[in-house]
Amino acid sequence: MTKLSAHAHRKDEHVFLAEKFYRSDHNDFDQVRFVHQSLPEIALAEVDLSSQLAGQAIAVPFYINAMTGGSPRTQVLNQQLATIAAELNIPLATGSQSVALKEPALAPSFEIVRQTDPTGVILANLGADATLAQAEQAIEMLQANALQLHLNTPQEIVMPEGEQRFYWLDNLATLIAKTTVPVIVKEVGFGMSRATLAQLVAIGVQYVDLGGRGGTNFVEIENARRPQRELDYLAGWGQSTVESLLESRAYQQQLTIYASGGVRQPLDIIKALALGAQAVGVAGTILHHLQKDGMAATTNLLRGWIEQLRAICALLGCRTISELPQKAELIFSPELLSYMQQRQI
Ligand code: FNR
Repeated sequence: MTKLSAHAHRKDEHVFLAEKFYRSDHNDFDQVRFVHQSLPEIALAEVDLSSQLAGQAIAVPFYINAMTGGSPRTQVLNQQLATIAAELNIPLATGSQSVALKEPALAPSFEIVRQTDPTGVILANLGADATLAQAEQAIEMLQANALQLHLNTPQEIVMPEGEQRFYWLDNLATLIAKTTVPVIVKEVGFGMSRATLAQLVAIGVQYVDLGGRGGTNFVEIENARRPQRELDYLAGWGQSTVESLLESRAYQQQLTIYASGGVRQPLDIIKALALGAQAVGVAGTILHHLQKDGMAATTNLLRGWIEQLRAICALLGCRTISELPQKAELIFSPELLSYMQQRQI
């Protein structure tokens, strides 16, 4: 076997550690409940699950979020994810392509996604410091429908080889103005605040993935990659996905909000949609099922999710995704109420 480059090795480590730390026991989605209505006056067949993602029509209101690519092993995962995405008509984002720009031999591990899902909605992914040329190369590599630019300061801080300067706004403004496809600015599991959203609005951002805490935790993952671990360093940092959605309420007219982070099941997706997201990203949960149960079982699981989404919408009396924030009534836990009080939401 040929020796993996440091880049490729890091991509494999991320997948391995994300699975090692995967948990689905509880997160902030459990702090929100729906009010049950006994007479929804609707038939399951009337529910329309379609939505939009960065200007593209999508059949279901969730997408497979950025994870992999950049090594032979993650090439297999990307191919499997793209097979599932194509079969079920689910949009798919690849992991950060910056490794393939530095090391072109790694590009096939991303290109396989478009080859496998020629007509699907595919999102490219780079960091917020990417140049315009790199952004165009990443889009071209996938013939991508949109580009995700990730914000990941806690991860960079914890990574020994990470960035130490975080001047990203001007660059984001340039990329948003000049790239050939829509740009989604995305967190990677630490959530966003109103102040961050205001900064993004001010530079012309239209699409935001809040990427909140509650699922995959990159501080935990990067800490585990270091020889001298300080396990509690930055533990619990960031806003949960539910908190981020609450933060985003003041901006939901000006921005199109996507939510991700800690989504374990269809009920979490519906809660995020009811809190104002237009679509919901799922990463760790899908990777977990893919690695544990294989591709056929994961395809079946997600096919079941689509039916469950329809069922929950019907229970709530909602015929479309856009009706959820208006019609579905929510109950918040005391902790979330306290968050809202302190943050004056
Ligand atoms: C990620 N994520 C990620 N995000 C990104 O923008 N670029 C990337 O390269 C990666 N890489 C990556 C690798 C692996 C193995 C995982 C599990 C995740 C972050 C991902 O898109 C998402 O924002 C977070 O994982 C939170 O969502 P979940 O996992 O809680 O659903």
